[in-house]
Amino acid sequence: MKITGLLLLAGAVAALPGTNHVHRASISKADGTKFNIDGVTKYYAGTNSYWIPFLTNDNDVDTIMSHLQSSGHKILRIWGFNDVKQIPGSGTVYFQAFSGSSAAINTGANGLQRLDAVVRSAEKYGIKLIINFVNNWTDYGGMAAYFSACGVNSNAQWYQASRCQSLYQNYIKTVVNRYRTSTAVFAWELANEPRCQGCQTSVLTNWIRNTSNYIRSLDPDHMITAGDEGFGLQGDGSYPYQYGEGIDWAANLALPNISFGTFHLYPSSWGVSNSFGNGWISAHAKICQQLNKPCLFEEYGVTNAADHCPVESGWQKTSLGLKDSGMAGDLFWQLGDTIRSTGQQTHNDGHTIYYGSSDWKCLVDQHVEQIG
Ligand SMILES: *[C@@H]1O[C@H](CO)[C@@H](O)[C@H](O)[C@H]1NC(C)=O
Ligand SMILES: *[C@@H]1O[C@H](CO)[C@@H](O)[C@H](O)[C@H]1NC(C)=O
Ligand SMILES: *[C@@H]1O[C@H](CO)[C@@H](O)[C@H](O)[C@H]1NC(C)=O
Repeated sequence: MKITGLLLLAGAVAALPGTNHVHRASISKADGTKFNIDGVTKYYAGTNSYWIPFLTNDNDVDTIMSHLQSSGHKILRIWGFNDVKQIPGSGTVYFQAFSGSSAAINTGANGLQRLDAVVRSAEKYGIKLIINFVNNWTDYGGMAAYFSACGVNSNAQWYQASRCQSLYQNYIKTVVNRYRTSTAVFAWELANEPRCQGCQTSVLTNWIRNTSNYIRSLDPDHMITAGDEGFGLQGDGSYPYQYGEGIDWAANLALPNISFGTFHLYPSSWGVSNSFGNGWISAHAKICQQLNKPCLFEEYGVTNAADHCPVESGWQKTSLGLKDSGMAGDLFWQLGDTIRSTGQQTHNDGHTIYYGSSDWKCLVDQHVEQIG
């Protein structure tokens, strides 16, 4: 999702002890076209929270994780990046700052220690995290934050420039080494919605191969995925199926160090109808089945609030109905909750499903019950 609003944050920055993860007993993995989490192979539900690593109060993080746990959610996708070109005021969270031709990773209390708190809380509540390394969009920096440091001026160049890739890989190395032995890591994710408009699909395929091989060299255990929207596959010829955003979905999923496929669904942004979603889900499931890798329906949303429950629950049913034919799980965009320490609600981008709301009953409680 391209985020168009701002998350308002309040609360003190807590000084945190360093994490020391030692348990490696149970690592989430692919089991054919399904996921195995804590030894159980089945279909899984979850959600997205780009904002949880940017909260500054550990108890708030714990409260939200406890809500996910008690609701039966298992997978949470988060932003593992927060790139800036100028160091923000004290207390504001950021993870990496670019200056001149270099990048400095912030491991301080308003830096990766916030991600530490999320990983630690996820361990405590049995939640598994998809940790994403960079944005295609400019929210929280994105590839564009790297541009002047590595001498490029487009995402297309960024994927192919070795200077950009070495800065990016250095960031990946720092994060992967920090949580490599944590059982709370579900998967490492290359980027949020990588696109390369008008490029040959080989540009992204080469980048996905290179990056996934690099991550695999750092971490032999955890799953790796691309984080793309699922464009570029055989279908009805409408915009999302086309190859114009530089994605050949099946070719990328076939790469040996890519563990599962991701796809998103935003009919209103893509100029298709809501009913387009069912065919979109089954088109991806079919490829996953052919390649014997899981398919994760990783983000989906409709803008009209009255459509949240009826439309999105329909997509959930389609996805769950394909649980023996390629679909492994789904994560709606996006989680909403109340920040306990401030009493504020988290960002409502029109897609937000708030904990405890009637939409939550529909899209979480009922869905989790149907999954069983
Ligand atoms: C591929 O990865 C290697 C390190 O694993 C890096 O040095 C190189 O710049 C990358 N190349 C491209 C084109 O991404
Ligand atoms: C993300 O990728 C697409 C396609 O390359 C591009 O149109 C869009 O501008 C990108 N976002 C940014 C911030 O560059
Ligand atoms: C996966 O990545 C590892 C580590 O970089 C590499 O040695 C291996 O060749 C890759 N697998 C394949 C089949 O390319």
